[in-house]
Amino acid sequence: MTLKTEIIINKNDAVTKAVELLNSDKVVALPTETVYGLAARCDSKLAVNKIFEIKNRPSDNPLIIHCDGLLMAEKYVLNPDERFYRLADAFWPGPLTIVTKRSVLVDDIVTAGQDTVAIRVPADDIFREIIKECKVPIAAPSANISGRPSPTEAEEVYRQLNGKIELIVDGGSCCVGVESTIVLLSEDNACILRPGDISKEKISKVLRHSINDKNAGNTIAPGMKYRHYAPSAEIVLYCGNSFVDYLKDKEGEFGVVCFQEEFDDILVSNRIIIGRSDNEKEQQHRLFKILNSLDSYNVKLWYVHADKRFEAVYNRLHKAADGRVDDK
Ligand code: TXA
Ligand code: MG
Repeated sequence: MTLKTEIIINKNDAVTKAVELLNSDKVVALPTETVYGLAARCDSKLAVNKIFEIKNRPSDNPLIIHCDGLLMAEKYVLNPDERFYRLADAFWPGPLTIVTKRSVLVDDIVTAGQDTVAIRVPADDIFREIIKECKVPIAAPSANISGRPSPTEAEEVYRQLNGKIELIVDGGSCCVGVESTIVLLSEDNACILRPGDISKEKISKVLRHSINDKNAGNTIAPGMKYRHYAPSAEIVLYCGNSFVDYLKDKEGEFGVVCFQEEFDDILVSNRIIIGRSDNEKEQQHRLFKILNSLDSYNVKLWYVHADKRFEAVYNRLHKAADGRVDDK
């Protein structure tokens, strides 16, 4: 069935309409500071099921629940410990998702049967207001079709989900631009399951101990195992210094995603700037808008200059490129 998809910008109208739809087991797209989310009440099996259907998401891939604050969040955690409170205090509201043992309040369909839950308090005011009105956490994955790049603008949500949902709340361009950092708190250690705007170093500092890159139990964020963020054009990453030299012997038609400083020296007609070479935030902010735009050019191959130090950007690009990287 094709639905009529409305986009609302006005904050008050957006909150009223979103709450009305959510409370009648519907799914709506909402802005967050990271990327747009596809939202449902976490206590509505019907609506949570719709999320999986609309996104074409494998059912073994659990969802993050979004709370309006710590008081709501702690109820969904089994015996929250000091580490949980330290992280919540330092980074919420904001782009950090904590994975920890879940309480009985969380439904199996949300956690894909795992005994853990992923929780965050988003920084976006409209989203928090909607959660407050609904009085339960809102389950929300990124508002893209599974495998496609996440949307950071309402227009992109519309392109991917038009006809599948009744409402997109337009909160403008997401300021962070990449999905939240996911940290797993297991019994005897902590580790990063997905890099994001909040770095491992910042998290270690708050926890007052170093954290592992991999955890002993080999838990992963199930979503990280799938090919992801991919336009249909082919992407090859370049991680060396001189992108201009690297491109010199490349033949045939291709496009380029480069740093601002390189732009003038790259004589290719399809050139896109991801940001200044030393500006991680700028690159994060533009990343998904660029990945989502690549298929609108008449080019089947893109060379992308990437900096491995910028983990959140690199992680997404690496997946979009399906691992194809040139270092020299
Ligand atoms: O910034 C974000 O996190 C955005 C906004 C909308 O909040 N959400 C988002 O959700 O990126 P999604 O579903 O696209 O990615 C969530 C990731 C997936 O890789 C999923 O497997 C993982 O979190 N995840 C969810 N629950 C988990 C759990 N209990 N244990 C391990 N990983 C989990
Ligand atoms: Mg996603």
